[in-house]
Amino acid sequence: MNLALFWGIINLENMTEINLESLKIEAKKELENSSDLRQLEEVSKRYLGKQGEIARILRSLDGLPKEKRAAIGKQANDFKNFINLKIEEKTKELKEKSGRGLGSKEWIDITAPGRKPSVGHLHPLTLTRRKIEEIFQTMGFSIIEGPEVENEWYNFDALNIPKDHPARDAWDTFYLKNGMLLRTHTSPVQIRFMEKNNPPFRVIVPGRIFRHEATDPSHEFDFNQLEGLMVGEDISAANFKAVIEEFYRRFFGKQVKIRLIPSFFPFTEPSFQVDMSCVNCGGKGCPACKHTGWLEMMGAGMVHPNVFKYAGLNPKGLTGFAFGMGLERLAMMKYKISDIRLFRGGDLRFLQQF
Ligand code: FA5
Repeated sequence: MNLALFWGIINLENMTEINLESLKIEAKKELENSSDLRQLEEVSKRYLGKQGEIARILRSLDGLPKEKRAAIGKQANDFKNFINLKIEEKTKELKEKSGRGLGSKEWIDITAPGRKPSVGHLHPLTLTRRKIEEIFQTMGFSIIEGPEVENEWYNFDALNIPKDHPARDAWDTFYLKNGMLLRTHTSPVQIRFMEKNNPPFRVIVPGRIFRHEATDPSHEFDFNQLEGLMVGEDISAANFKAVIEEFYRRFFGKQVKIRLIPSFFPFTEPSFQVDMSCVNCGGKGCPACKHTGWLEMMGAGMVHPNVFKYAGLNPKGLTGFAFGMGLERLAMMKYKISDIRLFRGGDLRFLQQF
């Protein structure tokens, strides 16, 4: 409605409360329809501004009789208060609404569960080593360690390995310029331990070893072994078999098929090789077991008397067994891994499965 026209053509003297009522309805409608603060400001100006409708009414009162002037003046003031109140309400409403609008864009749900940070996990070889250590510890074995850089005495001589043994060959052993070498097995730690400890004892030695050889699905040049040594009086090969069978039973959670076949190591007499029926193929034959159905798991035997001597112990009445198992080979059997090279390949698709 054009208010100027409204006020212009209607004589103020004839103006009734009804006229102001309809003006009130009109203003109310305009205020309600204001969709933002800018529009509201315009409506406010139109009614309350210096040139606005209320000012116009008040200015027009001059020529009216006193009583009429007072009555219409009061009504105009009421109207002004009404508009002020409505503008106040509407401003609050619009501000809240615009706040909510911003909120929906930048909404934070403080009750939402947090995003899980991606954390790493243990390597399958670490899991395997820890499991092995736990089992042997419950069987009374202590865990000891030895150096990865060794000398020839501990790695070969003290283990009764003759000077002309092929294992000493530069093709099998990594020699360092200073005459030292990277240990080719964990057996030197047997000597280091027996030099300082008197029997009876049972220890295991987990550790990294190095061999100068080509890799294939079951061979690495840098891998881990776990040495075992139990020495005392009357320790027999039957004790060895019992310990190993119990270890395998606990490690695999079920009875597994193993076989002991005669072997040779200069530091044990007699010596055996322990094979396990390949769990990867169920004994049928696969690349991991070189299609034989069996995987060589460890070398073992009864400690050679010369080894006791080299370690400074009197071999008389002393017996013991020793073994050295490949940690990777065990992990391969446990997790059904067909290629040893996967452990160090750095392929996340492989590692994330553990
Ligand atoms: C030895 O190293 C002896 N020191 C073991 C031993 C200890 C015998 C105590 C007697 C008394 P051998 O070379 O066979 O033995 O290695 C032992 C085990 O290490 C093997 O049975 C196999 O499980 C693992 N192994 C050997 N060569 C590799 C290789 N290249 N890659 C991965 N695992 C290997």
